[in-house]
Amino acid sequence: MSATAPTAGTPALEIHGLEAGYGKIQVLWGIDLTVEAGSFVTVIGANGTGKTTLLRAVSGLVRGVHGSIRAFGQDLHGHSPARIVRAGIGHVPEGRQLFPLMTVAENLASGADYLPGAAREITRSRATVFELFPRLAERQLQLAGTLSGGEQQMLAIGRALMSRPRLLLVDEPSLGLAPSLTKAVFRALAEINRAGVTVVLVEQNVQRSLALADRAFVLENGRIVKQGRGSELLDDPAVREAYLSL
Ligand SMILES: Nc1ncnc2c1ncn2[C@@H]1O[C@H](COP(=O)(O)OP(=O)(O)OP(=O)(O)O)[C@@H](O)[C@H]1O
Ligand SMILES: [Mg+2]
Repeated sequence: MSATAPTAGTPALEIHGLEAGYGKIQVLWGIDLTVEAGSFVTVIGANGTGKTTLLRAVSGLVRGVHGSIRAFGQDLHGHSPARIVRAGIGHVPEGRQLFPLMTVAENLASGADYLPGAAREITRSRATVFELFPRLAERQLQLAGTLSGGEQQMLAIGRALMSRPRLLLVDEPSLGLAPSLTKAVFRALAEINRAGVTVVLVEQNVQRSLALADRAFVLENGRIVKQGRGSELLDDPAVREAYLSL
């Protein structure tokens, strides 16, 4: 992994007063959220509470967003998704969104489309991805749609890494995966983070993501209602009752 060292003290992500929705439906109501560079952050919350909308707003995939979004000190508000990728933000979307009739190699290449000097850099990016997920190297010519669920998730993460993000947004990577594969996906995310990439993870596997996270945010009805260290929230009785059924 080759994350550029962040400027000391500048947060990877700084969101103030973020409001977003779809047409007349408002989903996010004044989100304030800061993610320190190099940290591993998780956002938890019930279904339909706006977690995906939050990640999509950062990536420029939701229109008509109000408020301020800065990444590594750079204003992202109103920028195109392509420009946001070039600013160092990678996004592993909910549901993977691979191209099923394209090969593993072609799916990976699509992730480098916005990489400056893509043709030259693509080999190096691909080598990094194959180091993290050797399984993908073995299956380069296989159609993405015929990969197992776990392999597809690895490919979705690999594709996002192709643009060499400094900040990686990951939406529900363990959805539909068996526990052993979930473990492998979390291990990979931890390794990506150790290599210097800031990670913002949205996960239904709350136990695992809180255990891994430096900091966690609880989103309820489009508002951040609680935040703290991952381990703190893991011990919080209200969080345990609402999200861990304990
Ligand atoms: N494209 C869209 N058009 C209209 N409404 C949408 C659209 N996408 C999401 N919504 C609505 O916005 C709200 C928040 O959705 P979002 O996908 O952000 O939630 P989430 O927290 O990611 O949920 P889940 O845990 O089920 O993935 C929901 O009420 C949803 O129905
Ligand atoms: Mg979602």
